[in-house]
Amino acid sequence: MWLLTATLGNFFLMLLQAGEASKAPITDQQRLVNTIFENYDKALRPVENTMTATNVTLNPGLFSIVDTDEASESIVIAQTFRMMWKDFFLSWNPNEYGGMKQLLIPLSLIWHPDIFVINLIEIEITLPEEKNYASINYDGSVLVTVPEIVTFHCKYHINMFPFDVQNCTMRFTSWMYTAEQMDLFHLTQTDLDMYTNSTEWDFISFLPRKEKVFHGVTENSWVYINYDLIIQRKPTYYLLTFVLPCVIITTISIIGIFAPFNDSGDREEKVTMGLTTMLTMAVIFTVITDQMPKTSEGMPLLGNEKRPEIK
Ligand SMILES: *[C@@H]1O[C@H](CO)[C@@H](O)[C@H](O)[C@H]1NC(C)=O
Ligand SMILES: *[C@@H]1O[C@H](CO)[C@@H](O)[C@H](O)[C@H]1NC(C)=O
Ligand SMILES: *[C@@H]1O[C@H](CO)[C@@H](O)[C@H](O)[C@H]1NC(C)=O
Repeated sequence: MWLLTATLGNFFLMLLQAGEASKAPITDQQRLVNTIFENYDKALRPVENTMTATNVTLNPGLFSIVDTDEASESIVIAQTFRMMWKDFFLSWNPNEYGGMKQLLIPLSLIWHPDIFVINLIEIEITLPEEKNYASINYDGSVLVTVPEIVTFHCKYHINMFPFDVQNCTMRFTSWMYTAEQMDLFHLTQTDLDMYTNSTEWDFISFLPRKEKVFHGVTENSWVYINYDLIIQRKPTYYLLTFVLPCVIITTISIIGIFAPFNDSGDREEKVTMGLTTMLTMAVIFTVITDQMPKTSEGMPLLGNEKRPEIK
């Protein structure tokens, strides 16, 4: 009986060992992730002392100007939105993990700053969420890059249309964290390596400005990073489709004054010509006003010129 139990015991021990041996050995990367995430809580801002602010550095890279809509006062741009910060809990000694210095893990697993564009109208993140990775360095610095299409509010100044220069400000801030909890920084240069020229606008500059705003209601301040996108309209299209026809029509209407008499002494041609040119001007004016914001702050140069002629 004793012998049988011992044999059975040995047998089970062998089975157990065989089972363990068939498992792949745990890698340095798995060991690191297990150690890091044992006590990690992604809901909490990762600082050693909650009185210190998390420093977040922004570095958006402009891809292209997708669309501008003067009538609804919005602009659409494509960009890669980069954020860098330090996570106190995500650091390790590379020597203990086979010299591994960098780790890529899904962004959804870690805490990340709630930074967004405050004058936002619409945002489309072009990368699916599960493909969105954070790159973590062994010293705890985290880099996140999100490709996105952003529609934000922009006040157009159209007085000089079609020779206008626009200043569209994209304002980044944290939604919940105040200036004491989160400080924002920017690089002096913006990343334009991926920028492709627009057919409608000439790019002039895309530069950051830091601003601290006090909100009276909550008695707190928030840090804003404003990126001023300065663009200048390429006027050729408008010159060819609006200005040139206007000049021709105006010339014709002036010639109309000298239209010849008919046999009975009436100037029929003059009336017809005058009416036709007036209608044409009305059509052109409608097309221009369709593209303009419904503002009373200033009329475009082109509209200003044409208004007296329509009256
Ligand atoms: C954040 O930036 C400030 C100012 O540059 C610096 O004094 C502070 O040490 C930084 N905090 C951390 C956690 O790096
Ligand atoms: C763009 O607008 C912002 C906010 O009004 C202003 O501070 C900035 O100086 C402007 N930039 C240029 C180049 O005019
Ligand atoms: C974009 O336009 C700028 C100036 O208008 C020009 O210097 C630059 O070469 C253009 N880039 C490309 C890729 O066409």
